[in-house]
Amino acid sequence: MFLVTHPSERLSDLVVSTEIQERIERLLIEYRNRNKLQKYGLSNRRKILIEGRPGTGKTFTASVIAAELDLPLYTIQMDKVVTKFMGETSTKLRQIFDNISTSTGVYFFDEFDAIGADRSLDNEVGEARRILNSFLQFIEQDTSDSIIIAATNNQKLLDQALFRRFDDVLHYAMPTSDEVRRLFEIRLGTFDSSFKVSDEAVCMASKLSHAEIIRVCDDAIKNSILMNTKIDNVYLLKMLKDRINAYIAKEA
Ligand SMILES: Nc1ncnc2c1ncn2[C@@H]1O[C@H](COP(=O)(O)OP(=O)(O)OP(=O)(O)O)[C@@H](O)[C@H]1O
Ligand SMILES: [Mg+2]
Repeated sequence: MFLVTHPSERLSDLVVSTEIQERIERLLIEYRNRNKLQKYGLSNRRKILIEGRPGTGKTFTASVIAAELDLPLYTIQMDKVVTKFMGETSTKLRQIFDNISTSTGVYFFDEFDAIGADRSLDNEVGEARRILNSFLQFIEQDTSDSIIIAATNNQKLLDQALFRRFDDVLHYAMPTSDEVRRLFEIRLGTFDSSFKVSDEAVCMASKLSHAEIIRVCDDAIKNSILMNTKIDNVYLLKMLKDRINAYIAKEA
């Protein structure tokens, strides 16, 4: 049900708005000072919900938080938890939350709405909805040292009842042009520190998600290694065009 990993991604590699960056830093600082906070009867923020389009860094953020806090990352495989037998799903959820309190770590529930969103699993008494509610209650009642991160790209699901359960809700958007530039700098900079990305490439890449831009960078790096050439903007533009066409075809 879990996939345990020990990520090494750094916060400096995550490209997000200043506001989101500060909120993540705050979670890290509060975690590191949780004993100090406890002395004053306060608990550190440790349950967060991340909502956003595919490829904007939700999973990446969970890895960054685990790495920065030197904690194992437990990714919960929702497809293994949610079955059409509601009793079984409940039992598994209980096991997961037992684990959360006995083994401290970062617990990442990716696409957690799978629990309640699949209407075909729902029956006349709304069992799927009830399971989702019980999941939210488990989250609410949890007082462990672990960090719980739930991610979704289903904005419709976000109602007030859901927000209440979390200490913080982060909305991830498509990259701004400043973020696009930073993505290029970070990814290509490790390979060729003298390369300067053109405004045209930045403008074109603004149509893509963070993940797609990183893939274009990696393709450019690979090409430059294989062809024994330097990375250049003309080639980068060509690859951006190809990816945008594929991306638009996929979205359509
Ligand atoms: N904000 C970001 N800053 C830096 N790199 C990013 C960012 N978002 C995505 N990436 C890169 O793209 C890869 C894939 O992104 P990630 O899996 O985190 O997206 P996601 O939001 O979880 O998407 P999905 O909704 O499809 O699960 C990351 O491993 C990372 O290399
Ligand atoms: Mg993801």
